[in-house]
Amino acid sequence: MLLAAMKYVKAIYPGTFDPLTNGHLDLIERGSKIVDELVVAILSNADKGTPLFTVGERIEMIAEAIAVQGFANVTVTTFDGLLVEFARAQGAKAVLRGIRAISDYEYEFPMAMMNRRLSPNLETLFMMPAEQYTYVSSRLIKGVFNLGGDVSELVPPLVVQRLKAKGTRKI
Ligand code: PNS
Repeated sequence: MLLAAMKYVKAIYPGTFDPLTNGHLDLIERGSKIVDELVVAILSNADKGTPLFTVGERIEMIAEAIAVQGFANVTVTTFDGLLVEFARAQGAKAVLRGIRAISDYEYEFPMAMMNRRLSPNLETLFMMPAEQYTYVSSRLIKGVFNLGGDVSELVPPLVVQRLKAKGTRKI
């Protein structure tokens, strides 16, 4: 391949990650295999209500999971404001998002189109997680854990520890 034709692709994987699930981790792995550099970016001013975990705690859980998995081209950081501005500042060409069910598409499509309007050269890449995680969401994890359900196979070990440390119910 001609050197001039080779392209370095940096992508942003944005989200709330409250907390990181194995579905997110599966997507990070898939994304890291097709882009040169992947930045997991936690939205720090999300208007989804009060998060369970602080941004610092979420960074720690993601950083540890990245290290354990040995994803050499993946980093984690935070952002606020417009995603397209953050992507521009990072020099990223793409945004990575996961699609589980059709309902995700309905949520994702307007965001992807709005981002394209705001930044026409920024592409949104959609990937599907492994089948066993297609129903897993941070919201469901928190809800089930709070009611005493076992979520240990659906989130990384540090997330289980941190859920317990929050004083919520046993697993
Ligand atoms: O994990 P989430 O909560 O589904 O992630 C949503 C996120 C962070 C990708 C989205 O809310 C976002 O990009 N927010 C940043 C603000 C922004 O750029 N809004 C315009 C895009 S439509």
